[in-house]
Amino acid sequence: MRAIRGPFLDFSADPFYRDEEEAVRFISDGLLVIDGEKIADFGTFGELGGKYAALEIDHYPDRLILPGFVDTHVHYPQTEMIASYGEQLLEWLEKYTFPTELKFRDKAYARRIADTFLDLLLANGTTTAQVFTTTFPQSVDAFFEACTGRNICMIAGLTGIDRPGQAPPDYLDTADSFYAGSKDLIARWHRKGRNRYAITPRFALGSTREQLDCCGRLKAEHPDAWVNTHMSENDKEIALVAQHFPEASDYLNVYERAGIVGPKFTAGHSIHLSNDMFARMSRANASISFCPASNLFLGSGLFMLHKAKSAETPVLVGVGTDVGGGNTFSMLRTLNDAYEVAAMQAQKLSALKGLYLATLGGARALHLDHEIGSFDPGKFADLVVLDPRATRIMRLRSESARMNGQASPEAQAFDRMQHDAFGMMSLGDDRCVEATYVSGALLHARPGIGR
Ligand code: GUN
Ligand code: ZN
Repeated sequence: MRAIRGPFLDFSADPFYRDEEEAVRFISDGLLVIDGEKIADFGTFGELGGKYAALEIDHYPDRLILPGFVDTHVHYPQTEMIASYGEQLLEWLEKYTFPTELKFRDKAYARRIADTFLDLLLANGTTTAQVFTTTFPQSVDAFFEACTGRNICMIAGLTGIDRPGQAPPDYLDTADSFYAGSKDLIARWHRKGRNRYAITPRFALGSTREQLDCCGRLKAEHPDAWVNTHMSENDKEIALVAQHFPEASDYLNVYERAGIVGPKFTAGHSIHLSNDMFARMSRANASISFCPASNLFLGSGLFMLHKAKSAETPVLVGVGTDVGGGNTFSMLRTLNDAYEVAAMQAQKLSALKGLYLATLGGARALHLDHEIGSFDPGKFADLVVLDPRATRIMRLRSESARMNGQASPEAQAFDRMQHDAFGMMSLGDDRCVEATYVSGALLHARPGIGR
């Protein structure tokens, strides 16, 4: 057993539907006890310090320790093509994305990029992600092999696209090869260690009706598997989906007709949704991945977070970087973009709400909250240690914060934490990530911290 000491922040409820102060758990000097891969005990250092006095302790005073970030939508084969210039979705796919992803026919190449991708996630404090691969099964094997070596929880799956004209002929699969490949990969990877499998039709525009029906069959045969896709991202895409599926009432209905919409179904982007689509997503207990960095970078539009998180039609929402449509691996930077997208719609996104979406909210959206997303004993010890004063401007801003001198020391510590948390959300990135632990093991340490 070992322990980690410092200021801890996690959530026990959704701050969009509760008073923020009730939903959050902030312990200004806490102790998290790790037994193997899991959290064995958690509380204040005052309560637990004596009981665990013999343990080796990693001590992080003046930091903020959070459950590891959950990136609910990201493409590992797009790591190298991040920040590709000047195109919106469909042209960007054709010009940059498919030529890059064709390289993943080569398994050794795929493994090299998978290792780099996972290292980058960890350097940004992300410990779980829902990940797109390519149409090549060997790119899925390479990814899960890299994950297995790190004992890290990732959701991924063979990423189908079989509609002629939507990708280069060498990149396309078929409904049959997708079905057979998915079956084989589910048998070999789903729930092997911390690996989880997602049936992954890339997007409705890229799949024929036959391939989407295969996804429905796979989900019926493997109800425990996840389903991951894109939805209603770009105006041109949406118009073409309507042309190809005239029988469907809207984009979501294409997926409903395939029988894949329900719990553990995630629709990335979901920017241009009608009220009725929000209501159906809510009733189905399906999830949306909000990808603000990508939605801005590709000029796709402004996601209506306030509608997704409304009391009337609440939808499970997590945050995704969507690298390489998104131009950052940092969930902090992505939250900054989320804040700005909300601001463009005269809405506010507080630091606590943002950090909820990036941790427990993401875990709930992926139906993984019994394993990750907070510091409850029994969950995996996946966590990130953040430095709220990592840069000169962050230090100055933090030191200049004026607290209410009349308030209790605890209330002042809470206010200071919120101030620093919003500073990280607005100004922070991987420079704030001091350490990342996965399954109880320190897998990333900022150079120079001497651990
Ligand atoms: N829709 C289909 N494929 C993709 C992709 O790779 N990135 C984004 N952002 N949208 C998509
Ligand atoms: Zn995407």
